[in-house]
Amino acid sequence: MTVRAFVTGHPVAHSRSPLIHGHWLARHGIDGSYERIDVAPADFPDFLARLRTQGVFAGGNVTIPHKEAAFRLCDEPSDRARRLGAVNTLWVENGRLHGDNTDGEGFLASLDAAVPGWDANTKTALLLGAGGASRAIAHGLIDRGVGRLLIANRTRERAQALAETLGPEAQAVDWQARAEAVGEADLVVNTTALGMKGQPPLALDLTAARPGTIVADIVYVPLETPLLAAARARGLVAVDGLGMLLHQAVPGFERWFGVRPSVTPELRAILLADIEGRP
Ligand code: ATR
Repeated sequence: MTVRAFVTGHPVAHSRSPLIHGHWLARHGIDGSYERIDVAPADFPDFLARLRTQGVFAGGNVTIPHKEAAFRLCDEPSDRARRLGAVNTLWVENGRLHGDNTDGEGFLASLDAAVPGWDANTKTALLLGAGGASRAIAHGLIDRGVGRLLIANRTRERAQALAETLGPEAQAVDWQARAEAVGEADLVVNTTALGMKGQPPLALDLTAARPGTIVADIVYVPLETPLLAAARARGLVAVDGLGMLLHQAVPGFERWFGVRPSVTPELRAILLADIEGRP
C-alpha cells in the first residue's frame, strides 16, 4: 500500500519539501508519495481531525502559518515542540497525532556537515532576530553546549523576552550594538528573512569578526545572501541555509517511511538547480 505524506501551508506552492522527499522516495525505492496540500487557517483544525481519523496519511510537514496551531491541536507534542510552541512534523500513531519540531536539529546537523567540530570552538553565538526560527536555533545551540548566546533584534523587547525564556546563557543586545557583538562571537546566525529574494539585505558590519568566525544564514534563496558574500570576502566561514532545509526533513521521512535518508551532494545539487530555475 502506498504510504502518503504531505506538506501543508498557506500558501504552499513555493515549498521545496516535495523535491526533497520525492528524491528520497525514488532513491530508496519506496512505494510512497509526498504532496503539497494548501489549507486555509480556518480549515486547519478539520484537516488535522481528518488526519487523525481517516488513516489516509502517515503524517506530514507543517509550515507557515500553521506551526503554532499544529502545536496546539496535536495530541502528543514532543518536549522540544513544547519548548518552542510550534510543530513542523506530524505523524499518526495509534489514532493519536504526534508533533515534533526538527528546525533546531536541522540547523545543528547542517553546521555539523558544513563545519565538522564547530561546537568545540563555539563559546559564544550571536543570533540576529528573535522570532520562531531564532528560538529553535537558540535552544539547539544551548543543548549542544554553547555557553553564551547574544540575541540582537530590531525590537529589543522580543530579544529580551526570548533571552529570559532561554536562561542564564542568553542575553539580549541592542540592535544598534550588533556590529560590536560580532567581535565577541564564534558563530553569527541570521535567523530573519532579511537577505531573502525580495527583502532588503541584513545590514551587519563584519569588520570586528575574528578569523575563523562562522557566519550562517537560514535564508537559502538566494543561496549566497549578501551576508554570506560579505563573510566570504573577509575569509570567514560561510554556511548557507540550504543545509538546514535538507536536514530538518530527515526525521519526518524516517517516521513516515521507515528509512533514515541521507543529505547527499546529489540532493543538494537538485535543490540548487531548482532554486536557480525558480528563485
Ligand atoms: P520567524 O518565526 O520565521 O522567525 P517572525 O516571528 O516574523 O518570523 O520573526 C522575524 C524576525 O525578523 C524578527 O526578529 C524581526 O524583528 P522584529 O521582532 O523587530 O519584528 C526580524 N525582522 C523582520 N524585518 C526586519 C527588518 N527590516 N530589520 C530588522 N529585523 C527584521
